[in-house]
Order: sequence, then structure tokens, then C-alpha cells
Amino acid sequence: MTMMSRILRLSLLLSGLFAAVISVSAQSNRKPSQPWMNPSVSADERADLVLKEMTLDEKISLLHGTGMVGLSPMSPLSVHSNGGAGYVVGVPRLGIPDIQISDAAYGVRNSGENGRYSTALPANIAGAASWDLEAAYAYGGLIGRELRAQGYNMSLGGGVNIARELRNGRNFEYMGEDPILAGTMVGQLMKGEQAEHVLGDIKHYALNDQESGRNAVNVHIDKRSMRETDLLAFEIGIREAHPSAVMCSYNRVNGDFACENSYLLTDVLKKDWHFPGFVLSDWQGAHSTEKASAAGLDHEEPGEIFFGPELKKAVDSGKIPQAELNDHVHRILRSMFASGVVDDPPLRGVPDVAGGLAITQKIAEGSIVLLKNDSAILPLDASKLRSIAVIGAHSDVGMISGGGSAQVDPMGGNAIMPPGKGATHWQDEIWFPTSPLKTIRAKTPSADVQYDSGADPAAAAALAKSAEVAIVFAYTWESEGMDLDTLSLPHHQDDLIAKVAAANPHTIVVLETGCAVTMPWADKVAGIFEAWYAGSRGAEALANLMFGDVNPSAKLPVTFPKSDRDLPHATIVHPPAHSMSKHGDHEAWRAIAKGLPAFETTYDEGLKVGYKWYDSEGKQPLFPFGYGLSYTTYSYSNLSAIPMVTKGGTNEVPGLLVTFKLANNGSRAGSEVAEVYAALPASAGEPPKRLIGWSKVKLAAGESKEVTLTVDPLFLSVFDEAKNAWQLVPGEYTIFAGGSSRDLPLQAKIEIK
Ligand code: BGC
Repeated sequence: MTMMSRILRLSLLLSGLFAAVISVSAQSNRKPSQPWMNPSVSADERADLVLKEMTLDEKISLLHGTGMVGLSPMSPLSVHSNGGAGYVVGVPRLGIPDIQISDAAYGVRNSGENGRYSTALPANIAGAASWDLEAAYAYGGLIGRELRAQGYNMSLGGGVNIARELRNGRNFEYMGEDPILAGTMVGQLMKGEQAEHVLGDIKHYALNDQESGRNAVNVHIDKRSMRETDLLAFEIGIREAHPSAVMCSYNRVNGDFACENSYLLTDVLKKDWHFPGFVLSDWQGAHSTEKASAAGLDHEEPGEIFFGPELKKAVDSGKIPQAELNDHVHRILRSMFASGVVDDPPLRGVPDVAGGLAITQKIAEGSIVLLKNDSAILPLDASKLRSIAVIGAHSDVGMISGGGSAQVDPMGGNAIMPPGKGATHWQDEIWFPTSPLKTIRAKTPSADVQYDSGADPAAAAALAKSAEVAIVFAYTWESEGMDLDTLSLPHHQDDLIAKVAAANPHTIVVLETGCAVTMPWADKVAGIFEAWYAGSRGAEALANLMFGDVNPSAKLPVTFPKSDRDLPHATIVHPPAHSMSKHGDHEAWRAIAKGLPAFETTYDEGLKVGYKWYDSEGKQPLFPFGYGLSYTTYSYSNLSAIPMVTKGGTNEVPGLLVTFKLANNGSRAGSEVAEVYAALPASAGEPPKRLIGWSKVKLAAGESKEVTLTVDPLFLSVFDEAKNAWQLVPGEYTIFAGGSSRDLPLQAKIEIK
């Protein structure tokens, strides 16, 4: 054969393959006559009807992804991917659509790269700081709509790992330190998202509370502690939202990788919580075929190292029973029917950009926390101010965002483009083009507003001295794939703030951080805002709060300690050799698939996560959990707590009815997050108190309202390891109500028998 004819044959072969690929993945062939297309039949029955028609190959194709550049070999079928993190081939002849998966933590990822647009919401931790259930639902709804407009039918979001370790580089993607707050908020977010007919996912299950050595670390923790902390957040989120999928995490838990951990996946998730959806691995988080399948992993991402031909072999040889295989497939199909992605597939369209920006701004306004306001320096009076110094953190052009797979591409591009770069890359610092300097200037047309980068603290201090008010912006950039060494601000920003504060007593600090930071200068400045990563409209939201157009109403979902020394662990345990993977490093990823050698860490603070640690250890935090100021003041009175018995299924369930009076004593309308905590009987062996409920209450100036909360009995219970069940401990409970975990003016005692 001549060279020419060889090339010709090869190209014919390739074009044949390509044609086959196209026909396999052509639009799903949905026929109303197919019995499983009847929406009045239950999702489980519909799944069973389809399952009966499927070949073994079709079943296997639903159980794995088709590759991701840099992480696994690419299947030729991946040409039909919509450009997201994952793509699963459907069963077109049976009307089962492909699954087009995108990361979507605080907005849809990769939109710039794919020539599309996404709104960036405030980071998830900011969403939690709103303590606002409606806002969380709207947050999820916006993501769901933008996923569909971009052609996706599945989201990877719903991050709810507990902020057990404040230096975890992904805390900005999660919902704080308290499982009841985090679980409830993520549940609302997922409900809002899934109402738009996308498959929702909750992650990273479980105890992926540090990024350092995440693919190798073996976390030791006792069962009671995990059930009452990290797992409780998942339990609540899953109960509230019925997510389609749960993503198992990279790390090991008590010996086994999370994605082949039968305690986590089968005993707890599928049996105790009756989770009917599917478990998918984090990207390259699967490490075996038979063990993982038996333990409860249903789907491997991003490729088919274990759940492709290897799975087929194991089924053919009888090592994996048919029933086990069918269960995996059933779970995926039933989630597809239950979520609406079969009956209502996404239609690509243009996202509602203006609508999205209005939503993200409103959520940011409800999530930026006012931490300090000495002598009522805030809100600033635009009509009186003549000069303002705006300093630091690129506040002339933008606000920072959180990186990694949560990263949303900034509309219009990175506000700080690194020299020589035309596009943004994995782990670039991305600054959203929302400029505090511009929004401050817009609010104060008659003031002289000058900017200083803060690079030279002496020059910044000189500018501050010449102005009536100095506003210093400071940031910590955080990302997937790394942890912080310390809670101190990087880049000498503590020094900058201290120098500016020494030059001008009217200094206000705005923090753009993904979690708590320490503030050695806290008592030297007049005002402090925690803006988190504030999203596409952060600067507009911040200016509205700063100048009093909006009254702050957010509260901290994490404790801010005074010093790193107050944390439960002096340092994060790192792997002996660096086992973090680099994108595009095939060798590293192959090693990960094989399972990197374990290194050990013990979460021996156990139940004492967040404020429970500070309460138990008698440590005074800098700013406590649940804390946040307003431009008005509220007062609490008349607490009553009444045990009550409600019907929960066939059982009588004891719960609690809590009422109190909340008054707005000021001359401004506002929304107060009214918090309720409980101290359990001493015999329960619990930390001093726990959050058991809250209500975000809107009050006009001078208005008061009676607030009523029904407390879920689960929130009062402890996990009894011997009985493998939640139990209410009989005895005396103290119920507290107030405005933060350390400001609880009301107390009532009750007896639970
Ligand atoms: C992250 C997940 C993410 C996945 C897909 C992983 O590295 O841990 O959160 O969803 O990649 O991008």
C-alpha cells in the first residue's frame, strides 16, 4: 500500500468513526409512546421500565464519564461534551439524554472559555452569612437557569464540608462551621437549583476538610463526632433538597477512601438516610472496581478507569452481581426522571444578564457582614464628606474571587490581567471588574476621592492623613488545591492597615476573604466590613451598605479567632511528599488513581467544631459565630420554650416551640437574624451549646414582632453510636435566644422526658 492510500484509508476510518460517534450521541430519541415517558408514573417505576430495555453496554456507559483533558484519556465520544467538567453518554434510542455536567458552586464555570456568560454570585460562605432561606433558594435558582441556558443539565455545586479547619482553602465554597446552618442553607440552595430541572449534586462527601494531600490523607474521627458534625450537614441538606447526586470526596475516612467507603456510602447515606439518588466520584476519586461498586459508588468521573471495561469484565465474570449493577443504573435513571431533565431538557438561550446581576447584588447586600462600627462612623454621610482615601487590594478596578473548580469567569475578563496573559488559567487570581473606587465616587459626587494602591504603606498613610475618611481594602485569595498556612492577611496588609489607622482615626477596613482572618489592628480602626468574595456586583452592594442605602443584616457563619494559636490544630498535617496534583500532569493523576500512600490526621476536636471549640475551651473569639451589626438596634424579650409532640410518620416526635419578642429600637428599618441555641443536659456529653434554629426577621423602625420557631427534634438530639440512632437525652435543657452565639440575653429551662 502506498503512503498516500494509507493516509486515505486512515482518514476514511476516522471519518467513519466520527460519523458513528455523531449517531450514537445524536439528540435523544424521545417517543411519547415509550411507557417510561409517562410523567404520571413514579421516577422509580420509570427507571425500572427503561432498565429492562437496556443492554449491558448501555448500562455501563451511564456509569462513567468520557474524560477530562489532563485528568484521564479522552473517549472519542467526548466530542459531544458541552465543554463542562463532565459528559456522560445517554441512551438515545430509549430517549435518555446525555448528561452535560458543569461545575457551578457560585455560578457556572468555564463560561468565558466556552464563549458564554455567567453571573458570579457571592461565594457560598457569603450565601451562608445571609442566614436567609429565600436568598439561598434564589441563589440556586439563578445557577439552575444559567446552567440550562448554557446547555447543561447537571450541576456540581452544593459544597457543604464543614469549616472544621479555618485554613482549608475551599471554605469559601462551603457554608460555614455549623452543620445545622450549613445543611439548611445548602438544602435551600439545592432546592432552588433543582426547581429549574437540573440534576443537583451535593459534595464532597465526606470530611474533605483540608486540601493539603487531599488525595491521600486518612482522616480519623469517631462515628458520633462525624455524624453530629460533617455528616449532619449532609443529612440535613439531603433531607431538605433530595439532591440527584452526592459526590464522594478524595480523602480516606477511617482507613477507606470515601469513594469506596461502605460505612459512608452504604450504611449511612443509602441505608440510614434512604438516599435514592446516585453517588459519583470526585474527579479521579475512584480507586477500584469491585470494592467501590460494593461499597456504593455508582458512577466514576471523569473517565472509565474502573467503571468502564473493568466493570463490564467484573459483571461478565459474576464478581459484580447483576442486581448491584442494576442498582447503580437505576439510581441514575430515577434521578434523571425525578429532576425533570428527561421531560424538560434544557434549551440553550441567552441568560438574563440584567436579572442575574440584580439577584447577585441583592444577595451580596444581605451577606456582607458589618463587624465594627465605632462612634457610628457608618453609614457614611455622602452629603457631608469632602474627601475620602480609597486604599489597597486593587479596589480601583475590582474585587477578588475564589479559585479552582468553583471559579466563575469574570464578565469582560480579569480586572487584573497578569502581564503577557490573554486568558485566565487554573489558579490565576481572578478579580471581578466591580470597582469599589467607582461605586464610592458615584455615591459622593461632591467629595474628592483619591486612590492609593497600598504598595507603599507610608504613601498610603500620607493619603489617609489628608482625607476625612480612609477606606482600606484587604484580601486573601483562596482556591481549591491549597490551604492557607495562617489566618493572617498576606502581602503585609496588616502592616498597611496599621499604618493607615495610625494616620487617620476614621479608618474603615473592607475584607475580601474566603473565610476568617485574624485582625491585629481591629481595635485601632473605626469600622470593619467582611465582604467575602462578593461576586459580579460586589462593589455596588458594598457601596449601598457603606452609605446606608441598605442596612447590613448578615452574620458570621464562622468564628473569627484572635490568633492562629486559638485554633484546635497548630498546623494542618501535610503529606510526607507533596501529593497535590497539577493540572495536566498525567503521571500524577495515574498515581492518584492507583491510590497514593496514606498519611494520617486525627480530627480529635471531634464535636467541638467552630464556636463549640471556643465555648468548651473557654477561649474568647475576636468575632463570634452568629455575630454581625446593623445600623439599628434590636432587643429581645419574653422567651418561652414549650416541648411539644408532633406526628412524624407513624411515630410521636417530641419537638420544641420557641417564641420571643423582637423589637427594632432604632429609626431605620432592618432585618435581624434572631438565633436560638440549646444547652443539652450534662449527661449528653455535648459542648456547652448548639444552634437549634433562627429566623431572619424584617422590622420597620420602631416595630416589634413575636417570633415563633419550631425546632426540629433532630437538632436537639445526639447520635448514639451503640444504637446507630439519634436520641433525645432526657433531662433539663436551657434554651437561649439572642443576636449572636455570645450575645444571648434570653434563657428558658425545659424538661424533656
Ligand atoms: C473538585 C470538584 C469538582 C471536580 C470537577 C475536582 O477537582 O474537587 O469539586 O467538581 O473537580 O471539576
